Amino acid sequence: MIKVKEEFSTHSKEYGNHNIIQQIIAKALVREMMATPKRILELGCGSGQIYNNINFPIEYYKAVDFSQAMCDLHPNGENIDVCCFDFDSDEFFESLQNDSYDMVLSSSAMQWSKDLLKLVSFLLSISKEINATLFTSNTFKSIFEITKQKSPILTKEDIISAFEKNAKCKFEIYDYKLEFENKKQLFDYIKKSGVRGGLAPLSFKESKKLYLEYPYNYLEFEVIFVKTISKS
Ligand SMILES: C[S@@+](CC[C@H](N)C(=O)[O-])C[C@H]1O[C@@H](n2cnc3c(N)ncnc32)[C@H](O)[C@@H]1O
Repeated sequence: MIKVKEEFSTHSKEYGNHNIIQQIIAKALVREMMATPKRILELGCGSGQIYNNINFPIEYYKAVDFSQAMCDLHPNGENIDVCCFDFDSDEFFESLQNDSYDMVLSSSAMQWSKDLLKLVSFLLSISKEINATLFTSNTFKSIFEITKQKSPILTKEDIISAFEKNAKCKFEIYDYKLEFENKKQLFDYIKKSGVRGGLAPLSFKESKKLYLEYPYNYLEFEVIFVKTISKS
């Protein structure tokens, strides 16, 4: 089941930070949840954008991120475990193999998995369901076209296939546009937004070409929302 939603546009001027799209998506992920799970595992938790949006009682929350700096920023508490793991690593699989969860949540992180099929299969062996949002390789699409780089993150076809091989799922694809007052602000945003959408460093000449040829006053983001419905 694949639904493509209307384009969603937002203006950078209204927001003072450099991860506004991630924040909007994490909030939407929690808002759209059909259940109120008691035991939750979160992958790529960052500084707690998902946890901070949860407004129902939970019994236990395990938050995983491979960046210790991020883990240190995540909210802590009696029923929260924050663990520093690479979700593609054997250590991660071994440490969680006897766990059991009502739901896996993940926002803006699993598109970096080196083996999404294996990860999803494992997650469904320890959790009833998965609700996740992932950026797709169409994020910064026009930039990658001009620089002739290939996006390092997964395509939507790869993502859909990895989930569909493990479960019946509902997919929704959203195109977000983040508008800027001018090109300088647009390119500053890329520089400051952490992973730069996977854009590799450019030479002065390449940067200049990109600056001159980029045709829009907005950045493009493509996001897929995935809900597993039943395991296959
Ligand atoms: C764009 S941030 C999203 C953070 C947060 N979930 C949010 O919604 O704002 C992606 C996070 O995934 C983490 N991450 C990326 N690859 C990972 C991996 N292989 N294992 C664990 N964490 C990973 C990064 O350290 C980062 O904190």
